Amino acid sequence: MRIIEKNSYEEMSELCAGIIGAQVLMKPDCVLGLATGSSPIGTYACLAEQCAKGLLDFSQVQTVNLDEYCGLPGDNPQSYRYFMDTQLFNKINIEKENTHLPDGCAADMQAECLRYEKLVAGLGVDLQLLGIGHNGHIGFNEPAEDFPVIVHSVKLAESTIQANSRLFDRVEDVPTQAVTMGIGTIMKAKKILLIAGPDKAEIVERAMRGAVTPQVPASVLQLHPDVTVILSKA
Ligand code: F6R
Repeated sequence: MRIIEKNSYEEMSELCAGIIGAQVLMKPDCVLGLATGSSPIGTYACLAEQCAKGLLDFSQVQTVNLDEYCGLPGDNPQSYRYFMDTQLFNKINIEKENTHLPDGCAADMQAECLRYEKLVAGLGVDLQLLGIGHNGHIGFNEPAEDFPVIVHSVKLAESTIQANSRLFDRVEDVPTQAVTMGIGTIMKAKKILLIAGPDKAEIVERAMRGAVTPQVPASVLQLHPDVTVILSKA
């Protein structure tokens, strides 16, 4: 595991975008696993800028996102589909049909989980970008008794609902369920890139240097052969 410390959010974002950009340059038809949340916003802005300058070409890239809230359609500004469209996809030359997220509004959620698991496994993720929750979650794999293996629907932890409520008018508006890649789904990615700000220092330390336990889901990354962690000190 490589751990790189940067002085600021901007520097972290530039380096993260540089690594993702290098992946796209080396393999123009690569599969990128993507995340939402505050952490990758700067990275996506850098990627959009490089694409606008003609330095990156996403025309053959496929993307798979980690997760989606249940019950929010893609045109809802709080949905992760909307986030990805506005923060990245609408700003780069990617084909919309090559951008994949779980369908949080599927009538048969079990069938949707299986569909998404097969899709991700079939594509094969070259590089998976991750953020980390204050409780150590990755995707929406919350602390639990076991590591959930495949794509599944999940009840969000109260701490996650509280953390994510900053983006909603009222905490009651935050969906309580989501659909997420499992830990096994994430671990199949060839390379993993995790970014975190200083507010995550304590949980990153536990995840990277503490015991591997489903109580700290990100700790499983210690078992992956190719993980890069970029931390920002400010
Ligand atoms: C988002 C996701 C989550 C976030 C995590 C950190 O798709 O899967 O695990 O990465 O909650 O969120 P931020 O970056 O907002 O602190």
